[in-house]
Amino acid sequence: MRLYSELADWFHLLTAPEEYAEEAAEFVRLAEEAGDGELQTLLELGAGGGNNASHLKARFTCTLTDVSEEMLALSRGLNPECEHVVGDMRTLRLGRTFDVVLVHDAVMYMTTEVDLRAVFETAFAHTRPGGVALFQPDCTRETLVEKTDCGGHDGDNRALRYLEWVRDPNPRDSTYEVDYLVALREGDAPVRVVQDHHVEGVFANNEWLEWLGALGFEARAERVVYDDGAEEITVFVARRPAERAR
Ligand SMILES: C[S@@+](CC[C@H](N)C(=O)[O-])C[C@H]1O[C@@H](n2cnc3c(N)ncnc32)[C@H](O)[C@@H]1O
Repeated sequence: MRLYSELADWFHLLTAPEEYAEEAAEFVRLAEEAGDGELQTLLELGAGGGNNASHLKARFTCTLTDVSEEMLALSRGLNPECEHVVGDMRTLRLGRTFDVVLVHDAVMYMTTEVDLRAVFETAFAHTRPGGVALFQPDCTRETLVEKTDCGGHDGDNRALRYLEWVRDPNPRDSTYEVDYLVALREGDAPVRVVQDHHVEGVFANNEWLEWLGALGFEARAERVVYDDGAEEITVFVARRPAERAR
């Protein structure tokens, strides 16, 4: 995907760190409600440009992982105090556990049951007993709507605007399509337009809950309202039960 490779250093003009404050506050609230004991450490899978982390690092010691070296380089600039590790969320194994594991919009790139369940295994392996894993997909099968959106920001001698076009050609399968038309302005040079086509995954609530439960998570779906009611999103809150003393 061009957005996360050749265009990675433009990412904060596509979606700016300030826009993530409300979601980060919800992640803190949900983790604190669901987790046992002190919550100090957080692992994010698919941390991208580190936008969530730029807020979460005030509350947790954060370890940020992503499959894209370029995106992690951007995050390192924003979050130099956080640990950064390159890795695929389906196969990453750090050999240690965390109080909180977070998987935000990056989980949309899991397009098959096998891939999504592999992410759940990664999350389970890295959540300490009594800890909590939070998953916030952009949509589920119940909430996916075809739409267009636009936005972007001005930076230092550069600016970006985008059109995002969401289509679901086959509502019976586990994928949908997102096309981005991105206009890039640098100095006085003419605007350059880049297109990027993403295939994303979509699964039903009951599939999420069944597959999380099969691993041993105690999972529930919580509807969270953002942006003064303009947006309502499902967050899957998955608690790893504390180990019982024998
Ligand atoms: C929209 S960005 C995430 C932005 C992030 N929420 C933030 O706070 O900046 C999506 C990210 O998913 C990452 N990604 C896609 N497939 C992945 C995989 N299999 N494992 C880890 N990261 C992946 C991409 O490299 C990209 O950085």
